Amino acid sequence: MAVLHTTINGEAITADVDPSISLAQFLRDNLYLTGTKIGCGKGECGACTIIMDGKSVTSCIIPVLRAEGAVIQTIEGVAKNGKLHPLQEEFINQGAVQCGFCTPGMIMSAKALLDENPEPKKEEIREALGGNICRCTGYVNIERAVEAAAQRIQKGE
Ligand code: FES
Ligand code: FES
Repeated sequence: MAVLHTTINGEAITADVDPSISLAQFLRDNLYLTGTKIGCGKGECGACTIIMDGKSVTSCIIPVLRAEGAVIQTIEGVAKNGKLHPLQEEFINQGAVQCGFCTPGMIMSAKALLDENPEPKKEEIREALGGNICRCTGYVNIERAVEAAAQRIQKGE
């Protein structure tokens, strides 16, 4: 076992961890933050996307000890004080969720983009979501949801 110190959704965490597991496994199995999904487990589908030190990353291929000293945000940390983030609301409003398996990863990729660039062009949205696969809804409504959220964020929401 090893000791990990990290910050997750604003909370400082110290935990004994098995160094052979991935960050996604740690989030789900040790912290019960099961909004982060594991689909492929190989860095190819984006279901496990989180934000680590401001960048979207696929947590299934990150060894847990790489989170030492990092600042991490998961889907559970996106709503604030019981209020959904504009991205979460617009995924609902625009019909961008069907089974929901890809949704946390999509939202985390989109949030990393909008945190850095609140006025993205369509191509920039496509590029930011390029590593996230959805098997149900299709990408048109997802792009629309990100555009609508961006407009709300630009208005100060
Ligand atoms: S589960 Fe991590 S990229 Fe697919
Ligand atoms: S909504 Fe089912 S995989 Fe995207």
